Amino acid sequence: MPNAHITGWGMAVPEKIMTNNDLSELVETNDEWIRERTGIRERRIARETEFTSTLAVDAAIRALKVANVRPTDLELIVCATSTPEYLFPATACLIQDQLGATKAGAFDLLAACSGFIYALNMAAQSIRSGSIKTALVIGSETLSRFVNWKDRNTCILFGDGAGAFVLQASERPGGVLSAVMHSDGSGGDLLTLPAGGSRYPINESTYSEGKHHIQMDGKEVFRFATRVMASATQEALDAAGLKVEDIRWVVPHQANIRIIEAAARGLKLPMERFIVNLDRYGNTSTASIPIAMVEAIEKGQIANGDKFVMVGFGAGLTWGALAAEWTGPIPSKGHVHPEQYRRLGRVRSLVRRVIRFIEGLLYRREL
Ligand code: UT7
Repeated sequence: MPNAHITGWGMAVPEKIMTNNDLSELVETNDEWIRERTGIRERRIARETEFTSTLAVDAAIRALKVANVRPTDLELIVCATSTPEYLFPATACLIQDQLGATKAGAFDLLAACSGFIYALNMAAQSIRSGSIKTALVIGSETLSRFVNWKDRNTCILFGDGAGAFVLQASERPGGVLSAVMHSDGSGGDLLTLPAGGSRYPINESTYSEGKHHIQMDGKEVFRFATRVMASATQEALDAAGLKVEDIRWVVPHQANIRIIEAAARGLKLPMERFIVNLDRYGNTSTASIPIAMVEAIEKGQIANGDKFVMVGFGAGLTWGALAAEWTGPIPSKGHVHPEQYRRLGRVRSLVRRVIRFIEGLLYRREL
């Protein structure tokens, strides 16, 4: 059975920074409160021309470059996102088109902030089953578009960004070792984006009631998160036949420093073993774990042979953890230039639209 290795990684965040002081001009809050209660100092906010798919594509191109993999080698693209561009088409298909990944199947995965762990597990299982060899897994968000900037309970928490991993099959040991996924829909009302789906299609009344904004019972989500972070980590370790002492790093969902501290206490691990960067990005939902990983890799914190666990929780309720052994890129020859595929992808996409238009005209004449 082949193993699924993380061979490429990349992240992309908008340039625009919103500090806690900036927020205090919008709602009654202050830098001290936000830092003490959450650990967040600033977050990134997408410009009008930045979308969930464009951030994802920027991150993906960097990941493909590191892995030295062409977009046309991809067989699967999974985009975990809580803020898709449309209900359909899937944001993963927009990414597929922008990358020029002509041989890839593509779908979105919605498990809120646990989405990246779910997606990585799904892609790893496809590789381990032998059905595919190369996959792209992305967590990408433009949460700023759904935040109520008048609600201090939520607007202080979230930020925008994307992280991407390339997964490849290899017989060498390591890569994804185990994963656990959980859900409890009875807590679905604790964190919701009610309008825009089939239950509450957006109309004047959903709009005036603010149902198109993120709504959260922060205290209950906090309580749930502190309960599941350590237990899910332990479960993933048990499934991989590992002990807490065997792992070098825990990469938690970056929601609140106090939740991460509770997980550290639960696992009896020092905070130095936790990768934390929420002070600079806030909670970027599905993107938070890959962004934290990418920064740690690029700082040289994660070395070959290191075992680590990624652990997350989110709306649904969902939670999960994934244990892996870091192995880095698979040695390969030459250098691919994924950004050229992006440029060509634009032309290819246009040509396909023109052909579809002409075919449509001919088909109508035949009828
Ligand atoms: O990916 C999953 C996403 N969700 C989460 O991770 C959320 C988990 N929950 C949390 O992180 C925390 O519950 C929050 C950060 C949202 C809130 O922290 P808290 O310690 O639970 O605060 P609280 O809601 O109990 O509020 C404490 C006080 C209240 O004042 P009183 O009633 O004690 O006078 C609030 O009105 O702080 C007040 N408060 C604020 N003050 C300044 C609430 N939000 C703010 C604010 N600035 N932004």
